Amino acid sequence: MAIHVDEAHQLFHLQTATTSYIFQVLANGQLGQLYYGSQVHVRPEYANLTKRELKNSMPAYALDQPTYQLDAIKQEYAAFGTGDYHRPAYQVTQTNGSRITDFIYDHYEVKQGKQRLTGFPSTFDDSGDDVETLVIYLHDEVTKLEIALNYTVFPNQDVIVRSATFLNHGTDAVTLNSALSGQLDLPDADYDMVQFSGGWARERHLIRTHLRSGIQAIDSVRGSSSPQQNPFMMLARPETTEDAGGVFGFNLVYSGNFLDQVEVDHYDTTRVLVGINPETFAWQLMPDKSFQTPECVFSYTANGMNQLSQQLATFYSEHLVNSQYVKKERPILVNNWEATYFDFDEEKLLKIVRKAKELGIEMFVLDDGWFGHRDDDHTSLGDWFVDHSKLPNGIGDFAGKVHHLGLQFGLWFEPEMISIDSELYRTHPEWVIHAPDRRMTPGRNQYVLDFSRQEVVDYLYDMMSKVMADTKLDYVKWDMNRYITELFSCSLPVDQQLELPHRYILGVYQLYERLTKAFPDVLFESCASGGGRFDLWMMYYAPQAWTSDDTDAVERIKIQYGTSYGYPQSMMGAHVSVSPNEQIGRYTPLETRANVAFFGAFGYELDISKLSVADSATIQHQVAFYKAHRSVFQFGKLYRITSPFEKDHNVMSWIAVDETKSHAIAVRYQILNRPNAPYLRLKLKGLDPDKQYRVNEGQRTYYGDELMNAGLFLDHNFDGTAGSRKDADFSSRLFLVDEV
Ligand code: GLA
Repeated sequence: MAIHVDEAHQLFHLQTATTSYIFQVLANGQLGQLYYGSQVHVRPEYANLTKRELKNSMPAYALDQPTYQLDAIKQEYAAFGTGDYHRPAYQVTQTNGSRITDFIYDHYEVKQGKQRLTGFPSTFDDSGDDVETLVIYLHDEVTKLEIALNYTVFPNQDVIVRSATFLNHGTDAVTLNSALSGQLDLPDADYDMVQFSGGWARERHLIRTHLRSGIQAIDSVRGSSSPQQNPFMMLARPETTEDAGGVFGFNLVYSGNFLDQVEVDHYDTTRVLVGINPETFAWQLMPDKSFQTPECVFSYTANGMNQLSQQLATFYSEHLVNSQYVKKERPILVNNWEATYFDFDEEKLLKIVRKAKELGIEMFVLDDGWFGHRDDDHTSLGDWFVDHSKLPNGIGDFAGKVHHLGLQFGLWFEPEMISIDSELYRTHPEWVIHAPDRRMTPGRNQYVLDFSRQEVVDYLYDMMSKVMADTKLDYVKWDMNRYITELFSCSLPVDQQLELPHRYILGVYQLYERLTKAFPDVLFESCASGGGRFDLWMMYYAPQAWTSDDTDAVERIKIQYGTSYGYPQSMMGAHVSVSPNEQIGRYTPLETRANVAFFGAFGYELDISKLSVADSATIQHQVAFYKAHRSVFQFGKLYRITSPFEKDHNVMSWIAVDETKSHAIAVRYQILNRPNAPYLRLKLKGLDPDKQYRVNEGQRTYYGDELMNAGLFLDHNFDGTAGSRKDADFSSRLFLVDEV
């Protein structure tokens, strides 16, 4: 049993395999948070956790309850304006302008399992995995609003999923000014906030800072979750490492504007809020209507960050990814973007396809430029019909040729966008998001379609499904290459304009929902100028995401390492590209480029029709090697060993271990070489201490405990024979660890 309710004390104790989450109805009928952390025994009450003392100069709840001071009591879903001065979890404006509400506990319900939310990506429980859901109903007497707080406990992965549903049982409309998904009040502030920040081509770099007094937050107002800040965040004790110590993980199942906020108050207590960013949100809640927030994921472990990442990765594959590809090995692809950009014709592409077949590659992906008359990025978005000057016999015919040559076929779309130079814009200029009588701000020479309009979603569905059927498509790369500006919809009334960002993203999901239902066998990869929408709501439909437009192996070391904290490696699209690299001009060995890309959904993104004989042989070998070890690379349990964000940022290493601990692959990347370097040992992780292993098929065997505790001795030295130098700038070494 995961949910324990003590009715006499109105106390709710949610238990996972190793954690406890406890809250209680307070004397004023609101909910108070008591505890979240390592598991504690179930008891009827926790008097020790509810002790209070009088705090000077703070409002009290009532004259006869001087110690009942909301500002000093940890809340479960905090209200605005009645004595708690921390930022609230929600705020409602009534028709008279008042923003004061008083939501009081009404009743609760416990349900087996977890239903999916309708029309909304969400977690689910299809496997009868001991999952239980608790719903707490609160009501406000004056407005007749109800809030249902939904908690689902996933015991096996130590995850609790929260959301809130607002229902208007009154006769007046109200405005939700904010409606966050989850809140966690913690009793102290001795935590480091770990965030994953960056920008285009340098996404999800780890930043770890100790909490300070006041508000610290990461968020997005760009219309997408953004490469600048990722919605995944951790709070870790200062002493917490990869392998030990307490750490909370928070994420939001959402792709729009988000807020992850941490507020430390004057008593060193901490409030975490996660949800839709109130900055660009308001929602008219009419009588008899409801508003559902997206879900947020809370997870805790006392055993360090590797454990947290692993339990989250398992959780997503069991309870979030909706695609049949979640546990299926992903095809090795070649993408023509960095090979040809817009400059291609059928013969050029077929040369790549034929070569791909020879190399053992399994899928060809035709990127941007196959539609309208798109020879550069100024034109044709919205016109999802083939450019006959490039593919004279049509896209279906071309796909047939690719299939005939024995490869799967994938295609690039950017459904949410429109170019001024397009038939779509000439027909429907009003479909662009723009403000009346104002200039429109371009981004990559393009504009954003108003996905809050049903006719826009319908148009895209018709266009895309025609192409998908015509090509018998195997894979879609769904791109999104600019942020939203001039946030205004010509189809929404005055008082609903702030609904646009959320309605936009609901439109995007409607299109995803319809396409994935109509084409269940198609593998979707999401993309937003690389990793600009690398989030859980996308993951629900698209089990892969293009991790970054930066394909340089050295840059990717940090990007993929940072990404691995919150997302499994099977989600990370990772390709070998040309050297010198197109984004950064760096020369790196082909071996290192592959050793970096192996730990993800692997592919190539260079003109393979122009390879030297030697590179061709190397790639053929890499493809065969990846196929032999694909399941460990994509689905092995990942243990981070050496962080490229620590010390001199020069080394990264990690290891992926299969379920039975009989096969593992470790890697060590080195950025710059150092002369006369100290001895080097790589301490592996995740092995069975009692099993014996061989490394790289060598003669010697080692116990797992030896490899983990003493480590593997790594020889720096050049032994005099050609090609024997093990270390150089941008070098890497892979270690196959196999049970004997
Ligand atoms: C974005 C993507 C790239 C490529 C181009 C095509 O930048 O991230 O991978 O598809 O668009 O225009």
